[in-house]
Amino acid sequence: MRITLLFLLPLAVYAQSDAGIAQGRAAFRGNCAFCHGLNAQGGRGPNLVSAPLHHGDTDSDLKNSIKNGIPGTPMPAFSGFGDDELDHLVKFLRSLSGAAAPKTTLSGDAKAGRDVYEKNGCAGCHRIGLSGSVFGPDLTRIGAARPVEYLRESIVKPSADIAPEWEGVTVVDNAGKRTTGVRINEDTFTLQLRTMAQKFASFSKQELRTLSYEKKSLMPAYEKLAPADLDNLLAYLATLAGGAGNTVVKEVETRR
Ligand code: HEC
Ligand code: HEC
Repeated sequence: MRITLLFLLPLAVYAQSDAGIAQGRAAFRGNCAFCHGLNAQGGRGPNLVSAPLHHGDTDSDLKNSIKNGIPGTPMPAFSGFGDDELDHLVKFLRSLSGAAAPKTTLSGDAKAGRDVYEKNGCAGCHRIGLSGSVFGPDLTRIGAARPVEYLRESIVKPSADIAPEWEGVTVVDNAGKRTTGVRINEDTFTLQLRTMAQKFASFSKQELRTLSYEKKSLMPAYEKLAPADLDNLLAYLATLAGGAGNTVVKEVETRR
């Protein structure tokens, strides 16, 4: 199914002259580029051009993702868009998927990548499906939610882009005790953190000696991973699209 589509994609190039593309590009810049990147190659949202789509490849699948959003993810519903606007957006996206679009090639081996994940203690902070820790973001659907280049940066340079809800906070109480965690809640008088031990800690701000917001990620930078291990790890993460942990590896094997 995916393979057939790849053969058909160059056909979409004929639409390049269509006026709708320019309108689609403008709508995309205004509404979508913030998350998907100017040329839809991905950013905080996934690559929409050269990677396999997780919510369907047909024009009507795309329109459905746009109009209804993807519930439970940051992808908002653009319910105000009419049929014309949806057509233009899809034409614009198709115009990018011609032969010129660089393909994201994953050279790594997803199965070996799962071992890299286990050996490096990722599960001590992350959850996939039902296993692991809830200290850091849930990675169950990370392959559907982020482009590979973003994932690479997340591992090697985690401080480069931290979503506000994952910023770390360190407090020192009046007795000198230091606690670091992810902020769960904060108001004028109190602060709640989730610590790495997955415990909740509540503080009255009056009782704190210092309260500092970290610019550095709470995730260690894995700069020293061997390049082959990193490639394998990325191949593994790319398979994570919401299925149960053991069925997804199969998916990438058929995709490669
Ligand atoms: C606030 C960030 C954000 C904005 C703005 C946004 N998206 Fe998304 N979009 C996402 C995320 C994140 C996903 C991945 C959802 C998931 O986890 O499956 C996504 C998924 C999609 C998908 C489905 C991809 C797939 O794999 O099937 C399409 C199509 C899409 N977006 C198109 C658009 C278009 C077109 C716009 C503008 C009209 C837009 N998005 C605006 C964040 C955003
Ligand atoms: C000490 C806890 C900790 C460990 C260990 C850890 N992470 Fe993280 N990770 C985090 C936190 C906290 C964040 C959110 C802040 C950020 O984006 O840097 C994060 C973010 C991420 C993201 C980005 C998620 C998103 O939604 O964009 C990915 C991908 C990721 N980690 C993968 C890994 C992998 C793979 C490993 C093992 C090689 C790992 N992490 C080890 C704590 C950890």
